[in-house]
Amino acid sequence: MDTVWTPASWQQRPAAQQPEYPDSEALQSVLANLAQLPPLVTSWEVEDLKSQLAAASRGEKFVLQGGDCCERFDECTSDIIVSKLKILLQMALILVHGSRRQVIRLGRFGGQYAKPRSSDTEIRDGVSLPAFRGDLINGAEFLPQVRTPDPERLIRGYGKAALTINFIRALGTGGFADLHHPQQWNLRFASNTPQEGRYQGTVARILDAIEFVETILGESISELGTAAFYTSHEGLLLWYEQAQTRQVPRRPGFYNLSTHFPWIGDRTRMLDGAHVEYFRGIANPIGVKLGPSITPRELLHLIEKLNPANEPGRLTLIHRFGVDRIDACLPPLIEAVQQAERIVLWCCDPMHGNAELTETGVKTRRFDNILGELDRAFAIHRRLGTWLGGVHFELSGEDVTECIGGARGLGAQGLSQAYRSLVDPRLNYEQALEMALLIADRIKP
Ligand code: PEP
Ligand code: CO
Repeated sequence: MDTVWTPASWQQRPAAQQPEYPDSEALQSVLANLAQLPPLVTSWEVEDLKSQLAAASRGEKFVLQGGDCCERFDECTSDIIVSKLKILLQMALILVHGSRRQVIRLGRFGGQYAKPRSSDTEIRDGVSLPAFRGDLINGAEFLPQVRTPDPERLIRGYGKAALTINFIRALGTGGFADLHHPQQWNLRFASNTPQEGRYQGTVARILDAIEFVETILGESISELGTAAFYTSHEGLLLWYEQAQTRQVPRRPGFYNLSTHFPWIGDRTRMLDGAHVEYFRGIANPIGVKLGPSITPRELLHLIEKLNPANEPGRLTLIHRFGVDRIDACLPPLIEAVQQAERIVLWCCDPMHGNAELTETGVKTRRFDNILGELDRAFAIHRRLGTWLGGVHFELSGEDVTECIGGARGLGAQGLSQAYRSLVDPRLNYEQALEMALLIADRIKP
């Protein structure tokens, strides 16, 4: 039986993937401080996103969600933020053009600092220390004092998130005026490949369309507020989420005002667990990641808990099965949701079911498997009459070398050139741009 919900009621449930803070008084004093700080987003932005997601669930819009697997405090820099926004905006333009629909831009940023781990500890040369759980919790360096969870990091994380969101908001109002200049679109990766002409053709048509619209309107599209971004992160560290859960004047309920869209990870979506308890009570639009272990029955229970009123836009189901398992896993879930007449937005994360290790033990993902899972996802939803309304990527705007494949043909040997992720491998600028060009072909009306 569900008891009365409060922002703290999750503390009565088993909470997976939480750190053990050695000094609980220090934690409580940080949380009291965090609860006093101003919110990072507003309730009206959150409600606006929810109504846009409702439109996406009706097939009227498409969602592009993307960013790092794990944001790092020391990557809160101008260059890295600008290049991440640039790739997301370019991908969104490509998807608008392909789908003939508005694209909702949802960053994995401004709080994506906490990670679930498969093991609580890491052992090196016989020494066992707590696993690195993201900068919000501890440091990556393999030293006892660095790996000990430190509550002060909650305040630092809030600060980095605020700096990131502040800069993104500023860039959104005019900072991307140049995006439609051809030199901003780097297609060199496709030079001398069979795809070259097709990719250049698509980008030329997009730039043409922008110029046409700007000529008619007599103003630059960047002045039309087209660069608005929403933020999202996995709501993993519940102390952090609770401290920023607020009531606002003139609206009922509680909002998590650390982000527009928090989601529950595949490892913390247990029906009776603390995460589902916390998420059921907030008013934000939320996501849930669905991996191969979810059953249709369990999914219906989860939906009943998280969206009992069947509110449109409230719940996004982000499936991530892997190219080999999606055919078996996805159709029964879609059919169950259809039969129960539940309103959800379907989104495909083609990253998290497709991780593999190279022969030398490097964690990677293949471009072809990522695209392959998306292909299967589009085909399955089309066959069952549902709208796949979004895609979810781990990507970087930099020239990192973490995933294999793409037109440039990055191989396993090339991964060491610029492998920077401490957790999951991301698509780089070129791979992400190419992925958007290929998806655009698949979502043409
Ligand atoms: C993630 O999105 O980085 C993640 C851990 O995903 P999942 O919960 O789907 O495994
Ligand atoms: Co990840």
